Amino acid sequence: MKFFIDSANADLIKKFIDMNIVDGVTTNPSLLAKEGKDPIEQVKKILKLVPGPVSIEVVATEYGAMLSEARPISKLGKNAVVKIPMTRDGMRAVHTLSQEGIKTNVTLVFSATQALIAAKAGATYVSPFVGRLDDIGTDGMPLISDIVQIFRNYSIKTQVLVASVRHPIHVVEAAKLGADVATLPPDVLDKMFSHPLTDAGLKKFLDDWKTLQKQYGDDFSKAK
Ligand code: E4P
Repeated sequence: MKFFIDSANADLIKKFIDMNIVDGVTTNPSLLAKEGKDPIEQVKKILKLVPGPVSIEVVATEYGAMLSEARPISKLGKNAVVKIPMTRDGMRAVHTLSQEGIKTNVTLVFSATQALIAAKAGATYVSPFVGRLDDIGTDGMPLISDIVQIFRNYSIKTQVLVASVRHPIHVVEAAKLGADVATLPPDVLDKMFSHPLTDAGLKKFLDDWKTLQKQYGDDFSKAK
């Protein structure tokens, strides 16, 4: 399963890039607004920082205007993916862009029918939002199961990108279901490193080592 970072914060992204555990990034207008910087400069910085795909969303809602934003976005970097909302105009734009060889990520997907339409239009990724479904009292994960099953049934190439991830359990469930990608807010990815038994185990190892060191002094940095 691929991990994308759902953030427009270059410092947070870099932290995970340096560990080589990140395969790409997703941004959206709200995440860029949160950074409060020139959005074009900010996405250019992220595109340079990240070796994998970086999704950048159009803010136009009409077909022609979407294309007018999508084409320059696609030229910002070889790894740029144009994020398009799940609308009728959006799907027409996805079809045109796919014919031009431009990668797309269809965002704001909340049903299996929307995912199927996005795939038929030629989307590279579809982004079902699990957390926002949970927020309104509907379990988001069965949607991932439905989309993965439908795409498998017909060998659909569009990748299932689980979005609006709120906690590590979403990631585990998405992986068990065979989703292609999960896009993770940095705080969720941070939580995935932690386990209280790891902390307790490390403390015990270090305490025992200190006892040994009192007797022998050296540590492995002096090993010859
Ligand atoms: C995905 O690409 C979106 O940017 C994101 O996952 C939305 O998440 P939210 O519901 O936490 O805003």
